[in-house]
Amino acid sequence: MSKDAPVFIQEIIKTSSDMWQKGWAEANGGNISLRLKPEKMGNAPELRPKSEWFTLEKALPGLAGEKFLVSGTGKFLRNISLFPEKNVGVVELDGAGARYRLLWGFEPDGRPTSELEAHLRTHEAVKEASNDVMHAVIHTHAPNLIALSYALELTTETLTKLLWQSHAECVVGFPGGIEFIPWMMAGSPEIAEATATALRVRPLAVWQFHGVFGTGRNLDAAFGIIDMADKAAQIYLMARSTGRIACTLNTDQVRRIAANFKVVPDAAALAADTSAFFA
Ligand code: 13P
Ligand code: ZN
Repeated sequence: MSKDAPVFIQEIIKTSSDMWQKGWAEANGGNISLRLKPEKMGNAPELRPKSEWFTLEKALPGLAGEKFLVSGTGKFLRNISLFPEKNVGVVELDGAGARYRLLWGFEPDGRPTSELEAHLRTHEAVKEASNDVMHAVIHTHAPNLIALSYALELTTETLTKLLWQSHAECVVGFPGGIEFIPWMMAGSPEIAEATATALRVRPLAVWQFHGVFGTGRNLDAAFGIIDMADKAAQIYLMARSTGRIACTLNTDQVRRIAANFKVVPDAAALAADTSAFFA
């Protein structure tokens, strides 16, 4: 992709390529969406209606008129760099946030990701909660977080504290914690709603046995927060695979790290008892 490509296409190429390199995006696993800022539309391809209107399961008035760059269903993220116009598209919502239509991409006849409802509901929630700061949503099959959801019986509080204790930067990266969403059918309105509700207050949500959703002000930030959480899960699993965990960051150390970096950790998570995970 040349440096003349629109900035948002360059960004999704970087992010999707990094996701593939990380081993997060087998086959068509994972999907990406970016709420497009008008000021980043310089050099954009021509955007004009290319499809009929499609009605969303739930109207999202907070996203009325917004445009999104979205990966396509069944598309391999590792192929976005080769053929962006086939693997991603730009959609716009109507004035009520109830329907979307295609403006560019998905050549010749693709459709947005099957997780579009989860992405858009999350965008509506985080746009409002962040006062318009958050623009990116990534869903991916980060293997260490998935493995953790098989290895341990988790709750939002114990998962959050386990990751804070497994990597000293995590309480700074996600003081609001990481939601644990027990198994639900992927692509369903139920998991879309649970994800959006969780991400209104936390930057990350793990889908048990499946993967993770992360949000950020841009794709780099969303990628980074997922990377940090998955690395913490990997560190824990590596330590555990030695047969015995001899020590860990304790509650007071986590609290002191948070205070040093002037973040306020989720109180319920900080109070959680994770001792069984380190026994
Ligand atoms: P899509 O190919 O529809 O984006 O689905 C991939 C996926 O990860 C579903 O959870
Ligand atoms: Zn998935």
